Amino acid sequence: MAAPSATASPSLSDSDAYKRAAAEAAAALVPDGARVGLGTGSTVAFLLDALANRGLELRCVATSPATESAARQLGLSLHDLDELGELDISIDGADQVDEDGWLVKGGGGAHTREKIVARAAERFVAIVSADKLVAALRPPIPIEVMAFGCHGTLAAIGQAQLRDGAPPSPDGNLIADYLGPVDDARTLAGRLAATAGVVEHGLFAPEMVSDVIIAGPTGVEHRRISPSANQSPTAARPEGAA
Ligand code: 5RP
Repeated sequence: MAAPSATASPSLSDSDAYKRAAAEAAAALVPDGARVGLGTGSTVAFLLDALANRGLELRCVATSPATESAARQLGLSLHDLDELGELDISIDGADQVDEDGWLVKGGGGAHTREKIVARAAERFVAIVSADKLVAALRPPIPIEVMAFGCHGTLAAIGQAQLRDGAPPSPDGNLIADYLGPVDDARTLAGRLAATAGVVEHGLFAPEMVSDVIIAGPTGVEHRRISPSANQSPTAARPEGAA
């Protein structure tokens, strides 16, 4: 695919031009009539434009009030997740992407809804500018915590603090960050998930991620991570298995 032009729109920074290129590549994957999960953040803002420009008949689920209002203004049709049940595709930004397809999300504090929507989607596509690629995941790792007992929750996690000045999550919980070493992402994800008071953490395992689309100075790269990510248990079950 051709390299995205960072100079075509003088008002866009290089980083924004790459975000837009990744978003447009992902929008091109969306078929007419699809049920689409919409993530949150500045990359997703370009996605909303790209989807609206395609003029398809879509039914969308937003992961935050900000995305909902932007999508509504662009004329996209919005629905409750439980009304649609399953989604064909969900597309979202990320703060970090490693070589194995692990994502860190939650820079915008919407990672709990984003994870729920990603799980509901047959295909979950992450869209990033190349500066989000990392050799190894690093802190901060966003966490959504319940306000009740939050100081004890953060103490139980260790090396975690409430995010300064962050608004509550879309569901009224607090946003904090784990600032300690990541080392093994799966071990950390398990530890965070097992801590009472943690609603959700921002580590997305590769098996949740179908594709990562990365745009940078050398062009747009489309990585397939887990082709069967999020298939329903029935669809994923091998023939003859119980
Ligand atoms: C919000 C997120 C965002 O997808 C992530 O922070 C990336 O944001 P941006 O596209 O603005 O760089 O996880 O909770």
